[in-house]
Amino acid sequence: SPEELDHRIAAARARLGSKLVILGHHYQRDEVIKYADFTGDSFKLARHAAEQEGIEYVLFCGVHFMAESADILTPEHVRVILPNMAAGCSMADMADPDDVYAAWDEIHEVLGEDARIIPVTYMNSAASLKAFVGERGGLVCTSSNADRALRWAFERGEKVFFFPDQHLGRNTGYAMGIPLDEMVLWNWRLPMGGTTPEALRKAKIILWQGHCSTHQRFTVEQIEKARREHPGVHVIVHPECRWEVVQAADSYGSTEKIAKTIREAPAGTTWAVGTEINLVNRLAKQNPDKTVFCLDPVVCPCSTMYRIHPAYVAWTLEAIVQGQVVNEVRVDPETRKWSLVALERMLELG
Ligand code: 13P
Ligand code: SF4
Repeated sequence: SPEELDHRIAAARARLGSKLVILGHHYQRDEVIKYADFTGDSFKLARHAAEQEGIEYVLFCGVHFMAESADILTPEHVRVILPNMAAGCSMADMADPDDVYAAWDEIHEVLGEDARIIPVTYMNSAASLKAFVGERGGLVCTSSNADRALRWAFERGEKVFFFPDQHLGRNTGYAMGIPLDEMVLWNWRLPMGGTTPEALRKAKIILWQGHCSTHQRFTVEQIEKARREHPGVHVIVHPECRWEVVQAADSYGSTEKIAKTIREAPAGTTWAVGTEINLVNRLAKQNPDKTVFCLDPVVCPCSTMYRIHPAYVAWTLEAIVQGQVVNEVRVDPETRKWSLVALERMLELG
């Protein structure tokens, strides 16, 4: 029962004391987020992981790439645990490292070995891809600093190779003033990414054709309907939404920015939100003086975030208490070295 799990989790936490920190991403369900010492977006949680002192264990209630990043950013002896190893990210899985390496080589075959291309990976990617960009003069970004990351990259190169999320790359590039016809999509399933040498030569940004299935559900029609039915509504969406959706919205930002914007909004305002349903429902509960609802009437959960259940939290914490760490996420030393460089470049952006 929930009460029994509460009791078991509290008992394990009491035994571990300040050796343990529990981090919870905004998309976690209420039954899990209530155990978190810190909540936030991917960037804020990465920073919390990096800044903790004296801890031995991080229990990461989120998805695999977030736990990997926490492992990279914490000292070697800190053990990072993902309550359920099946909590991945389908977007991160769309960038298989071998496909990215092959694309990088093909792009250089066309543009020449000395082409000044800076690789930028979204946080939602495997640690080996973070290492790949670190070793090649690039960096990691999250949805809260993608604009600064792209500026950083364009100070050092002429083109950016951005993966895995085409939408975050396109939305951010466009907001910086790069026209859509100077961005080219790379479809890894097709020879030469399905593009042409001319398009590659013209492009400022080469976008990997990845996407988030949860955020691709949002449409311009949903925004039009919200505006018809709720005059004066503010529409705020995550930048993993399609370009047309971001253009039709009033504002966009990371999960933390969405939460902060609604928290700080005047009482009586109405918010239509284009992001994962657990966060939207929580924002509705936490802001009873405002009207907050999801743009998608059918509900749009992130099925992998949902794989973290209190029973896994109890099981993994009790295992630590018994001295048998389970579900540890550990990045090998070579990958760690270069992925840390790429993550630190991002943290230095502020
Ligand atoms: P945030 O960095 O905005 O929390 O986003 C992470 C994510 O996976 C969104 O789908
Ligand atoms: Fe990945 Fe989308 Fe889930 Fe975020 S919401 S973790 S991008 S699948």
